[in-house]
Amino acid sequence: MKSAVLVDKKKFEVLDVEEPKVKDGYIVIDVKKAGICGSDIHYWDVGEPKGLVLGHEFCGVVSDNNGNKDFNIGDRVTALPISPCGKCEACLTGNPQYCRQTWTYASGLSLDNPGAYAPKMNVRMDMVYKVPDNVSDEEMAMVEPSAVAMHAVNLANIKLGSKVLVIGGGVIGLLSCMFAKKAGASYVAVSEVNLSRGKKAIKLGVAEKFYDATNPDLIKTLMADTLGGFDVVIECCGNSAAVTSAITAVKPGGTVVLVGVSLTPVNVPLVMAVMGEMTLKGAIAYTKEEFKSCIDMIGRREIDVSKFIDDIVSLKDVQKAYERLTNGEDSAIKILVDPNI
Ligand SMILES: NC(=O)c1ccc[n+]([C@@H]2O[C@H](COP(=O)([O-])OP(=O)(O)OC[C@H]3O[C@@H](n4cnc5c(N)ncnc54)[C@H](O)[C@@H]3O)[C@@H](O)[C@H]2O)c1
Ligand SMILES: [Zn+2]
Ligand SMILES: [Zn+2]
Repeated sequence: MKSAVLVDKKKFEVLDVEEPKVKDGYIVIDVKKAGICGSDIHYWDVGEPKGLVLGHEFCGVVSDNNGNKDFNIGDRVTALPISPCGKCEACLTGNPQYCRQTWTYASGLSLDNPGAYAPKMNVRMDMVYKVPDNVSDEEMAMVEPSAVAMHAVNLANIKLGSKVLVIGGGVIGLLSCMFAKKAGASYVAVSEVNLSRGKKAIKLGVAEKFYDATNPDLIKTLMADTLGGFDVVIECCGNSAAVTSAITAVKPGGTVVLVGVSLTPVNVPLVMAVMGEMTLKGAIAYTKEEFKSCIDMIGRREIDVSKFIDDIVSLKDVQKAYERLTNGEDSAIKILVDPNI
């Protein structure tokens, strides 16, 4: 079957790959849609591991249930891509997201379990959820990033009336804005270096204000507008400049949630973090309950995630989509891949 394969730095090729065989604990799905995520872009940037088939945000229909009577052929499903061990303290306390094994065999993020930039894939049967018919394939592919944002907001200590700044207006940032508002924030602002994306956050109605992160007076402006800083800052970029802005813009005693990932160490203004007695919290992925909650909220029309989708591309056009998402000027927030077109 044809798959988009990571072959080098910033380079995908559509290659013939063996179809997945059923294996213990997994079922096979026919992929309908897959999302391109900021984390995938980190892999694409470095071009490693070579041969990786990305795509950890996905949906499809069951094509081989591997004898599991909970699933019928043709069931519409999505799944957590993670591979927790099920036995460690994290797993046993309902936090598979920080189990040490959770990313080792993750679907679409490991060579062991190729992802959804392909017409078929294996998914771990204990991570699969059926999806109601009123949720479209496009919306189903948005469940995973929505759950990331929900988890970040659940860790953020937002109260009715909180002022929240989200740094980075990619899909994780904008979904975090959406959930922050739902959690009771009275003022939600987003800062972005890509002006088209920043303006889009306002157009999509998820933030009250967009701050241009390239403005040298950014921090001064943020402080003036909030009379001394934000209660909560959610960092959704993962670079030194953004983490520094987060620590500088939160008020003393406030909370910074770190969602952005960097494969190399970032510098932080430590003295401000210490002197402000701020809480710095990492946020990784989601719990199973949060993932299921996102499916339910989309099904009940409590959140609209389809408005963040800009385009749907074929496997052949995955390369162009990555270039578009990283050129720093395009307003596209989320691009989905359809391996069947
Ligand atoms: N912790 C987790 O579980 C988790 C899950 C998914 C994604 N992520 C990470 O979260 C980050 C965001 O994901 P995404 O899919 O939205 O990525 P993205 O690349 O689409 O968005 C990041 C945005 O940050 C902006 N940006 C960069 N530097 C900035 C700065 N100094 N100030 C303001 N904006 C700045 C970029 O222009 C871009 O629009 C990525 O690092 C991704 O790897 C983490
Ligand atoms: Zn993702
Ligand atoms: Zn575990």
